[in-house]
Amino acid sequence: MSEAIEVYEVEGRTFPPPAEFAAQANTRDRSFYEEAEADYEAFWARQARELITWDTDFDTTLEWNLPDAKWFVGGKLNITANCLDRHVEAGRGDKVAYHYEGEPGDTRSITYGELLTEVKKFANVLKGLGLQKGDIAAIYMPMILELPIAMLACARIGVAHSVIFGGFSADAIIDRCDDAKAKVIITADGGNRKGAPAPLKHTVDEALSRGAETVENVIVANRCDLDPDMVDGRDHWWHDLMADASDDCPAEPMDSEQLLYLLYTSGTTSKPKGIMHTTGGYLAQTCFTHKYVFDLKPDTDIYWCAADIGWVTGHSYIVYAPLANGCTSVMYEGTPDTPHRGRFWEIIEKYKVTQLYTAPTAIRMFMKWGTQEPERFDLSSLRVMGTVGEPINPEAWMWYHEHIGGGNTPIVDTWWQTETGGQMITPLPGVTTTKPGSACHAIPGVFAELVDNDGKPVSVGGGYLTIARPWPGMLRGIWGNPERYLETYWSRFEGRYFAGDGAKIDDDGYLWLLGRVDDVMNVSGHRISTTEVESALVDHPAVAEAAVVGANDDLTGQAIIGYVILRGTHEASKELGDEIREHVGVRLGKIARPKTVIIVPDLPKTRSGKIMRRLLRDVADGRALGDTTTLADPAVVAEIAAGAAGGDED
Ligand code: WTA
Repeated sequence: MSEAIEVYEVEGRTFPPPAEFAAQANTRDRSFYEEAEADYEAFWARQARELITWDTDFDTTLEWNLPDAKWFVGGKLNITANCLDRHVEAGRGDKVAYHYEGEPGDTRSITYGELLTEVKKFANVLKGLGLQKGDIAAIYMPMILELPIAMLACARIGVAHSVIFGGFSADAIIDRCDDAKAKVIITADGGNRKGAPAPLKHTVDEALSRGAETVENVIVANRCDLDPDMVDGRDHWWHDLMADASDDCPAEPMDSEQLLYLLYTSGTTSKPKGIMHTTGGYLAQTCFTHKYVFDLKPDTDIYWCAADIGWVTGHSYIVYAPLANGCTSVMYEGTPDTPHRGRFWEIIEKYKVTQLYTAPTAIRMFMKWGTQEPERFDLSSLRVMGTVGEPINPEAWMWYHEHIGGGNTPIVDTWWQTETGGQMITPLPGVTTTKPGSACHAIPGVFAELVDNDGKPVSVGGGYLTIARPWPGMLRGIWGNPERYLETYWSRFEGRYFAGDGAKIDDDGYLWLLGRVDDVMNVSGHRISTTEVESALVDHPAVAEAAVVGANDDLTGQAIIGYVILRGTHEASKELGDEIREHVGVRLGKIARPKTVIIVPDLPKTRSGKIMRRLLRDVADGRALGDTTTLADPAVVAEIAAGAAGGDED
């Protein structure tokens, strides 16, 4: 990354907003920044009143008692009334909310009016199963319209949803359901993935056969006609329950701080943590950023966030903000290469997409596939292009700019986290002169600052990224674990939120994100904890000890490399190594399966017994590692041994 930055700086590439774009942009000057600088609470209060319809206005903008924040105190709202009812009541019920595109090419468009009816009916279904305000519903679904319907139905009646990414394993479902005491799991028979149905209900059954005991009911949408087993009294077909459901379900005003959802994310320990998001502040920040970062024109734009709703990007920028802002979105079920490598560009041409929001890892893959793919399609409808999830290399930025954006479409590189709820550091496309590879500046009303090891602010150079004041979309805690919340985010640097990322600030005050500084890996934009993978490795009966590192990878950003020591009499073999890799895939889900498992006789440790991860990372970085098991070849062992002889690390 740093080398790439040097390349850019030498070349001095900067991209001011194109004049034509700036002339029509939703925000064109620095007035938001100035307003927020002068009084950030007043700035957010104004945004919250402009963007949100409140049943009862709030009386206090912020109550801050580190680490506990309450935003828009006294305010009452229903988030689904903001996402749906208000548009229908304003005569926009026939406007398309989602153009749904299935992977095999089936399509369905759903209007705001239709979506509202479905949400009310499904809310009644949930009530009929005994769910009420304060309960938690787990959702484990593919990218189908029933997913946002389920989330919104929960939100309408004050049930918090906990969406579990459809690629996760039965164990992940058990952990998350147990931690949250989920009462119901909403799922589907399967979803289309790379040309074939991938079963989901099956995984839920496995989870329920071993745990997740608080779950009383399972609701199953039919996507792929997989005909799963249905347990009498426990399992219900979505369409059966909906057939009898009433569509009368008024939106009940909720407290601004009503728990909206939990979303589990990896930290530095072996158990994922349930990040808590509430209603008013979350909606204010996501709506603000969606409107101004994407320069959204709801009457004419066709917006597409190509993430999966199973991640926070999908929660905030496929479901809540786009609906609350009343725009038409594209929602796509599948992968970028099915049935062909031009799938994304075909979708953009077909719907005349104006905003595309995707991840650097996808862009690097598109680069690898070559320009002939996008060249086959008309991409001239694009007005703003976003990226999220990991640092974007300047080369990938330039490729996106030239080959997708036609050289004149602003790019917004948006830094944020599950914990932040919404975008935090990003250009504003009509205002900011961008530099490829830099996420530029904190949005108005967010105070991002770098600090050194002692917590002293850094004005130029490298440091730890912190947020110096509370912000509306911030997490409200870790479910069931207030101590861990304080300890993880608010203890490393006094009075500051510590994000876990390193960054540098250049002479012009631009921020360059450099990746995680903790034991969290970023693989294709997904957060995976080294500890979690290590635990899964050690869970295999043949493994005595394991160390996991994230090595540099051209395509996925980082790749998971697992070093393992075998137990007692187990013989190292390629088969055993592959079995150990698969074991992690089963325990945690495929995305957490190590790219390579290296069986070693020993692990390098400091004298105090800490595994020398930096050395292991260097060893991994210095070698071409395939999708496979590598036995301890003498060279690796020698390298490790040589490093271990070198003494203590940190
Ligand atoms: C990384 C995703 C650099 C970062 C919304 C952060 C980024 C983690 C960027 C959060 C970006 C996200 N540039 N790094 N534009 N966006 N990250 O919780 O390390 O899945 O801490 O949220 O992704 O990942 P999460």
